[in-house]
Amino acid sequence: MSDPHPEPPLHSPTDRNFFTLSWQGDVDGSLLLLDQTRLPHEETILDLQSPDEVIDCIVRLAVRGAPAIGVAGAYALCLATRGMTDREEILERLHEVAPRVRDCRPTAVNLETMVKRMMHSLAMTDVNTASGLDIRNHLLHLAQTIDQEDQDFCDRIGQSGAEVVPEGGTIITHCNAGALATAGSGTALSVLYAAWESGRRFSVLADETRPLLQGSRITAWELQKKGIPVEVICDGAAGSYFQRGKVDMVITGADRIAANGDAANKIGTYMLATLAAAHAVPFYIAAPSSTFDFQTESGQLIPIEERDEKEIWYPLGETRPEGKIRYGNPAFDVTPAPLIKGWITEEGILQPPFSEIRD
Ligand code: MRU
Repeated sequence: MSDPHPEPPLHSPTDRNFFTLSWQGDVDGSLLLLDQTRLPHEETILDLQSPDEVIDCIVRLAVRGAPAIGVAGAYALCLATRGMTDREEILERLHEVAPRVRDCRPTAVNLETMVKRMMHSLAMTDVNTASGLDIRNHLLHLAQTIDQEDQDFCDRIGQSGAEVVPEGGTIITHCNAGALATAGSGTALSVLYAAWESGRRFSVLADETRPLLQGSRITAWELQKKGIPVEVICDGAAGSYFQRGKVDMVITGADRIAANGDAANKIGTYMLATLAAAHAVPFYIAAPSSTFDFQTESGQLIPIEERDEKEIWYPLGETRPEGKIRYGNPAFDVTPAPLIKGWITEEGILQPPFSEIRD
């Protein structure tokens, strides 16, 4: 991967506090992306020139979060044909690259949806008469539309949900569903940002989110940049906070929401939802319509990514402990719909069967 560490762009996609990713230049341009693996200590911008570099970034979580990887996936297809002019070669290349991008992380439906949307759009253009350059311009335009749409959805999610944030309350969240998980202002954190900007005051408990620490590395970093009081706790400490009456609301993002409302999100979310139910605390999911998968009937059918065991044992030392220990590393779990009080979307706070956002 090229790693030239160029100067950060002059504006973020939202022109606010955070930069996640952005296309720079024309059809032969490149994808600038913040390397989230280096947060919170370093803000390094990568300049990606090929789809394989984007795939690598998605797999190692340099870019992560369901909406953000959907946008990155769309741009990966633009990079696939960089510098190419021959129409047949362009189409051949796109058909080779698209499945690899689509499948590089299986749980977040946004990635699959956006790659499919890009490829289906080719069928809508007159491929037989369009020049190679026309096809490439068309794809870049669509990727930028997807990017812009996500920014818009994030802001609307914030507006939809701000009212449920309790004044003076403590809200717990898991993983990172903030600006850095999207092209815009976030999903769960967008709700908190909108409430804060409207004058409501509250504090946030951020689960650290083992094993890759998106909560302590990214959510805490975002919240403190916004001036919102945040306390990082170990995932296993959440129960004690509920038990002591210190949690008033739970809000998380989602990677894929099945037709019945079951929601896959970062491993540990189900534990929070169960605790919330046991303590009569409201549990909300915030997600754009692009995270709903109406083809998948229920959460049991959602594919769950299993990640490298090394992510579990690396805090113990450089090498794998001796012996026959097995390590399990499912990256996501599924929260059943009955545990969810409301699904906060760009179209408001919804309930199954989500007729407002079904096609
Ligand atoms: O493995 P990650 O960091 O990509 O997991 C991200 C999450 O689980 C987020 O909560 C989810 O994608 C929603 S982001 C708006």
